[in-house]
Amino acid sequence: MIQSPLNYTGGKYKLLEQILPLFPRKIDRFFDFFCGGCNVGINSDCKEVFFIDHNEHLIALYQTFQNMDKSELLSWIYEIISHYGLSLVSRNGYEFYGCESNTGLGIYNRESFNQLRDDFNRSKNFDYRHYVMLYAIIVYAFNNQIRFNSAGKFNLPVGKRDFNSRMHEKLVTFVDRIKSKNYKFICQDFRDFPVENFSPNDFVYADPPYLITCATYNENGGWSDIGEGELLFFLDRINAGGIRFALSNVLSSKGKTNEILANWLEKNSDRYTAIHLNYNYSNSNYHRSNKNSESDEVLVVNYKIEKRQERLIELDI
Ligand SMILES: C[S@@+](CC[C@H](N)C(=O)[O-])C[C@H]1O[C@@H](n2cnc3c(N)ncnc32)[C@H](O)[C@@H]1O
Repeated sequence: MIQSPLNYTGGKYKLLEQILPLFPRKIDRFFDFFCGGCNVGINSDCKEVFFIDHNEHLIALYQTFQNMDKSELLSWIYEIISHYGLSLVSRNGYEFYGCESNTGLGIYNRESFNQLRDDFNRSKNFDYRHYVMLYAIIVYAFNNQIRFNSAGKFNLPVGKRDFNSRMHEKLVTFVDRIKSKNYKFICQDFRDFPVENFSPNDFVYADPPYLITCATYNENGGWSDIGEGELLFFLDRINAGGIRFALSNVLSSKGKTNEILANWLEKNSDRYTAIHLNYNYSNSNYHRSNKNSESDEVLVVNYKIEKRQERLIELDI
């Protein structure tokens, strides 16, 4: 399984073993709506994948990865690291920077990181270099995450880690994959996507921000009851066109219930099935401590799940 080079909040990497077996066998075109870290589409077995997200920085970053020469991409990353004087423990070790692995490199990198982030936020040349800078920022940012404020400025502080061999490996594997297949990255709001363009063997996977849990991309009025209702209506239209879909969501979390989703499922119980997944993954900076706070993570599908597929889920395989 390929893991996203971005540590995306809400990323589905750890749920892939449960989700992928529930997808239909024959898919010609896979539409990964709300693609985020691309974890799902990139691991789906089909000829053509469309990654769709409304975050323009994210889509431009993937297009840069796809179109740039790989060795040039890597050498630009190392150039940026050296130009800003950021740490590179894989080359010099922690001692060189007066830091230790458990406390991390934040103190050493803070000033250089802020300079890099300011230069990026000021830059008006939206070329490959701009997006390679963005990748470098993500690598050195808090928890390797991506967050922009309402003015479009990257606003996470420095993190503890640097461009280590794991990050390097994840990037290279991801870049090799997106160059080798028919993948398209599209910057679009799901509401603007023309539903009539789907064909019978297409498959739509949607992984929206979760209404009842908090994530950085929910900030600044990002996702609300209105978005949730519009997405469910969008899926109803897809269903009416005879197109298969799967929706990831949480029905309840920490005592809260997603009433909009629950009502929609009840109203459509003859058409849609909610499969309850094992929520046993956690984001690195977000831990749930007691049982009552567990999330009911579901995959809602509008097609028949084979008995064999259900069995795999029961066995947690
Ligand atoms: C939960 S994340 C997706 C995670 C992804 N499936 C993964 O495994 O890495 C949700 C994504 O929805 C995107 N998004 C939010 N509102 C959107 C909209 N109206 N149209 C398209 N994308 C949207 C956000 O930018 C974010 O990347």
